[in-house]
Amino acid sequence: MKTCKHFGECGSCKTQDMPYVTQLKGKEQRIKDLISEGNIDTELRPINHYQEYFYRNKMEFTFSNEEDLVCGMYSRLKKKKVFNIEECLIFSPDTEIILGAILKFCKEKKYTAYNKYTYQGFLRNLIVREAKFSGQLMVGVVATSKVDFHRDEFVKVLTALNLKAKLKSIYLITNDSWSDAVVFEKKELLWGDEYIEETLDGFTFNIGIDSFFQVNPVGITQLYRKVKEYASLTGKERVLDLFCGVGTIGIFLAEAAKFVWGVEIHKQIVDAAFINAKKNNIKNISFFAEDARRFLNTQGTFYRDVDLLIINPPRCGLNPKIIRAILRLNPKRIIYSSCNPTTLFTDLKGLKSSYKPDFIEPFDFFPHTHHMECLTFLSKTPHNS
Ligand SMILES: C[S@@+](CC[C@H](N)C(=O)[O-])C[C@H]1O[C@@H](n2cnc3c(N)ncnc32)[C@H](O)[C@@H]1O
Repeated sequence: MKTCKHFGECGSCKTQDMPYVTQLKGKEQRIKDLISEGNIDTELRPINHYQEYFYRNKMEFTFSNEEDLVCGMYSRLKKKKVFNIEECLIFSPDTEIILGAILKFCKEKKYTAYNKYTYQGFLRNLIVREAKFSGQLMVGVVATSKVDFHRDEFVKVLTALNLKAKLKSIYLITNDSWSDAVVFEKKELLWGDEYIEETLDGFTFNIGIDSFFQVNPVGITQLYRKVKEYASLTGKERVLDLFCGVGTIGIFLAEAAKFVWGVEIHKQIVDAAFINAKKNNIKNISFFAEDARRFLNTQGTFYRDVDLLIINPPRCGLNPKIIRAILRLNPKRIIYSSCNPTTLFTDLKGLKSSYKPDFIEPFDFFPHTHHMECLTFLSKTPHNS
């Protein structure tokens, strides 16, 4: 059991001081409790777990003007204060070198951090993405347009670093918005490739500075393998993948399916999904940029009785209207991958009139945090099949 030097102050890993087996038992117990509270008739499979450290492929750090310029995370101990991150055991062994070099450079140039209360200042966030299988690295500084950034010197500093990962891409993102979140108003590629690549089980995916990609690539590969195994497709099945993101699950399933359709609300993510399908030479897949409920309400009749429905919603889960639309769709089987057990169990209740969860299989994608993923396989209840 290791704890990093920021443990206690950093809001990210709250259970790093707990033996990993105890963390896993706690997560399993949480699902057992939800099963018994909801009086759900199902089988709970053992929790899957992978590497405990350096599993995350993306971090977003914050710049702030404390006594001096800092780049790191919000403190759990001091309200509204950001502290410097000097190591991160769940992200990358290169964290210290990258953040140290960027901070030194920014201090030398006398850049200040953006102040969200006065709207003054320049530096806002630092995005670092590290593809775990390919080892490719992408760095993006998010800043306002208030200062002329020393682009060439910044590139020189970063490309001279001696890193374990392979630096492939450097971006400057302009964000003049009032929003506290990272808004990609303008993306400027300062050096290298537009995308980094990640390879999961032989499939290659492009990851852009603003792409959605599952955070734990080692874990997600295992989950996709299980989805494929449980889907047991024979080449004849029509598959609908709701909340498909950049199309990864569909791409894993397509070679064994007749056709896969993916639905995703964000147009730029759907564009990436098409690129991913093309990159992997998958021809029997297509994607729609639409809200899942709207899609089911307007086009659901064409997909009625689909052989397999994949659901992988955000943490908020499904709203009752989508659940009703899914019940009308009447898929033969459902595989539901959820990152929030609480909303998963609410949704299972909503689907209960027609679908029974045959089993639930937890995955620990987020060691040292309370987060977890659950894969649930649902088949029709006997009176509906
Ligand atoms: C948990 S991610 C799943 C992504 C994908 N299945 C994967 O494995 O990478 C949820 C996705 O649902 C999308 N989304 C959120 N709300 C949506 C909605 N109402 N309709 C369709 N897609 C939505 C998000 O943009 C995000 O890409």
